Amino acid sequence: MIFKQLFDQKSSTYTYLIASSKGREALIIDPVLENVSNYIILLKELDLRLVKVIDTHIHADHVTGASKLKDITKCSTIMGDHTPADAVEIKVKDDEYVNLENLKIRAMYTPGHTSDSYSFLMNNYLFSGDTLLINGTGRTDFQNGDSKDAYNSIFNKLLKLPDETFLYPAHDYKGEKVSTIGKEKKQNPRLQVSSVDEYVEIMNNLDLKKPNEIDFNVTKNINLGA
Ligand SMILES: [Fe+2]
Repeated sequence: MIFKQLFDQKSSTYTYLIASSKGREALIIDPVLENVSNYIILLKELDLRLVKVIDTHIHADHVTGASKLKDITKCSTIMGDHTPADAVEIKVKDDEYVNLENLKIRAMYTPGHTSDSYSFLMNNYLFSGDTLLINGTGRTDFQNGDSKDAYNSIFNKLLKLPDETFLYPAHDYKGEKVSTIGKEKKQNPRLQVSSVDEYVEIMNNLDLKKPNEIDFNVTKNINLGA
């Protein structure tokens, strides 16, 4: 399998490129607009044909490269069915599979960080968007975020996956690249709570500042970055 984890310095976003092998179909998860030319170079180097691009949710901190990638490669754009982005071609439902040549990726509806947040599971690789981060969890204070929903998505869905599942989030701000479900259960400070109310209490008192350019980014992303 070809698996590349790419990093955007400005927004600390992780983008993932996946294919079964050279010369095959490829998929990109959470592309960043400014990095599209780099993805195109990488696809050429690996002799891959980009057929699908997924955004895990409407991002607030960067503009998606989905629309630009579609213009260049004619790939399909995919998001979960709760997305407010009408331009998305394929809206997947909870438990539905995204098929790629020789690979299957399961969509999991995991609202809370935003109301449209999906995670994607390919074998034992979990792409959690901003629902579950390494040593953290996605904030829930904008874009219809809801900390009760987040608790449910994390504790009743993602943490039910096997402990050895690899966790690949959409962001990391401290240089961490990968974790596992088992490791997060033990070490992630946000997950050391005994009830949903305790989790909500933590999330309600984070006192985070609004991301730079959130309004611009969300408006652009509702049009997939076009
Ligand atoms: Fe986000």
